[in-house]
Amino acid sequence: MFGRQDVIEYKTTEQFVKMRRAGLVVAAVHEAMREAVRPGVNTKELDEIAEDVIRSRGGVPSFLGYDIGMGPYPASICTSVNAQVVHAIPSKRQSLAKGDLISIDVGAIVDGWHGDAAITLPVGEVSAELQTLTSVCEDAMWAGIAAAGTGKRLGDVSNAIQRCVENAPREYGIVTGFGGHGIGTQMHQDPHILNYGRAGKGVKLKRGMALAIEPMITLGSDDTVEESDGWTVVTDDGSIAAHVEHSIALCGDGLWVLTAPDGGVGRLGEAAISQLALE
Ligand code: MF3
Ligand code: CO
Repeated sequence: MFGRQDVIEYKTTEQFVKMRRAGLVVAAVHEAMREAVRPGVNTKELDEIAEDVIRSRGGVPSFLGYDIGMGPYPASICTSVNAQVVHAIPSKRQSLAKGDLISIDVGAIVDGWHGDAAITLPVGEVSAELQTLTSVCEDAMWAGIAAAGTGKRLGDVSNAIQRCVENAPREYGIVTGFGGHGIGTQMHQDPHILNYGRAGKGVKLKRGMALAIEPMITLGSDDTVEESDGWTVVTDDGSIAAHVEHSIALCGDGLWVLTAPDGGVGRLGEAAISQLALE
């Protein structure tokens, strides 16, 4: 789908420190979105808040003007509501209502380095079914991240995501048409990361890689269709979807979740590097 830089870019520790700055800008936008998402707000307002946070922290919104041949993307975030899976364009005409589920995807560039991450948030109170959909998607992302150690293979990440979803008490669709990606001096780089696959297969994971891991799951189908705006991706059966994403760095001595405020320590424990020295 996206034209990716088709060679893996290996980063130095100094370059990861630069990527961390972009990651923290993205994390700050997520914080602002947690505050702003509520019944009655429209998704264009969310986009304006997000752009302000990015620019006030010295970043540039990477999605704005992003062009893959369909014309430039017109906003700084993607706001995908309910059956919208990813890449939905913020709009004044789309007001959030209690019970909706929204995925907010944010990208920022600082000093030439990218950060990219998404959260799924409830609008007011949502059904138990949607709360569980969200937590299974988050758990699957963290399972994928935890499987991404140096010396493992890409299939270990994909398989960990798939197994986490399949072990949930209910059946979910794992969206097949989109996946994660390498990230660095471009938003989308090799390798492409499927959210399902076989352990032990695929590219070897090495120190210096940075990956964006982003499962998308649904209450129904794993299939999606693109709307006529050329961007918005919706489930083909109208079922509700969740999507979360973090950008991570494979350091020699552990993982650094660049877009998590705590660097991933809370979810990964000892598997995360102690980044105190690097902050
Ligand atoms: N952040 C999305 C991803 O993870 C891409 C956003 S598409 C854009 O792949 F057009 F909005 F930039
Ligand atoms: Co991404």
